[in-house]
Amino acid sequence: MLMALLLGGLVACLAFYHAKDASNPAQGENFYHGQHITDPHLCHRLIAGKSLSDTHRNLLQPLGSRAEDNRRLVDAFNIDNAFTSADEVYVKHFVKEAQSRISLTSEQWKVISGLAQYAVRGWTESSQSVSEHDDHITIRIKLASMVQAVCLRVVLKILFKIEKEVASDDQLVSLAEAINRAWIVSKTQEGSRYGEDRDLQNALSAVFPDTNVFEPRENPLNFILPAFETLWRIVLRTFVEVKFTTGSKHPEWQDILIAFAGDPTKSQFELKAAEWKGISAEFIVSEALRLYPPTRRVHRTFKWTTTGEQISIAADIEACHTASKIWGPHALTFNPARFGKLTREQKGAFMPFGAAQFICPAKPVFGPRIIGLLAGTLLSELKNDWELNSDNAKVMEELNIGNKLCLNREAYEDVFLVRIRRR
Ligand code: HEM
Repeated sequence: MLMALLLGGLVACLAFYHAKDASNPAQGENFYHGQHITDPHLCHRLIAGKSLSDTHRNLLQPLGSRAEDNRRLVDAFNIDNAFTSADEVYVKHFVKEAQSRISLTSEQWKVISGLAQYAVRGWTESSQSVSEHDDHITIRIKLASMVQAVCLRVVLKILFKIEKEVASDDQLVSLAEAINRAWIVSKTQEGSRYGEDRDLQNALSAVFPDTNVFEPRENPLNFILPAFETLWRIVLRTFVEVKFTTGSKHPEWQDILIAFAGDPTKSQFELKAAEWKGISAEFIVSEALRLYPPTRRVHRTFKWTTTGEQISIAADIEACHTASKIWGPHALTFNPARFGKLTREQKGAFMPFGAAQFICPAKPVFGPRIIGLLAGTLLSELKNDWELNSDNAKVMEELNIGNKLCLNREAYEDVFLVRIRRR
């Protein structure tokens, strides 16, 4: 316990030290290299990609500043989208197209609600038995695979109108796993190469047989990546937090998300029913995005006007969302009620969907609501006697303690939903 406190103190001191020094223009340009900036004001400046101070100006244009840092995505996925292009006309068109694809009518929201339910039910009904006894069998579902496949099915329907009959769950899991592997390898020294990644090419072609998956501007991953890669991780954590950790002491949170999944409208999203103690689906999703931002860091490349040196710096969104000097002593506790009265400072520090001038088109409506809908559907379809289980004792211990969940991509890879079924 003492060790944890000391470590926590050290981490907080380092974050403060970085924020303080990074804002000091008297420091040499080199100082920033590889740094995570944790001060929200500086993060806003960094994301805009223009300058960090009067003396720290960027020779790269904002789009180039972002594209430069996302080169690894071009290598790994052969994409050409808003994140990787410095072509202003193309990026504008891409963002507009994304905006248009995620603008759903109330009728379409209902269809998505039905599709999400169908997708989860497919998993619960076909779940594998792991042990059989005279009077009962034990069945289990790999949590991450199910959440990934369900999110991918919904994303494909929304972005490409792909019907449920077109792709099987196995095909979706293969595609999700291939994307995940490429993403992880792309962050390593050797990087990932789309041209050599037969698994990814085949998984993509299986779902998009009529598309030239080798043509960057036609590549469906241009739209799939920003939507799927963010969604599955936040949906998984919202589900686990509300059903198994903090939410186990607040059963009304499940009711709130389940009610929204059944009626995915603006009024239901914002509803604070008396029996829900002033909490809405919107508050729960916002709090999940605060503690578990899918984009933990936003990177930009800077080429200094003074030296011409080119370096990469990250805006540490996760740090902005969890700093105790901004969010209070219980900054790491999942508490949706805090969204009932945010301070100005908290509003400025909360940026799960990025910041000007690159704000995500999913920020105002689609993003928060689809997270609520998917988490609510998982909660309603897995309502009863499902438990979490893993052979990894450390993961189970942490889940049982109920601390803040881990944000690492592979953190819950070996976690299963388990249920005993009487014969
Ligand atoms: C639901 C969870 C989502 C989160 C947390 C999220 C987060 C973000 C963040 C942090 C950025 C800024 C990136 C940067 O500045 O480099 C961004 C930008 C963007 N996102 Fe999202 N996103 C989500 C969903 C989506 C979806 C569903 C789409 C639809 C395809 C989408 C499309 C985009 C696009 C096109 C941009 C670039 C905007 C621009 O350049 O002006 N996002 N997103």
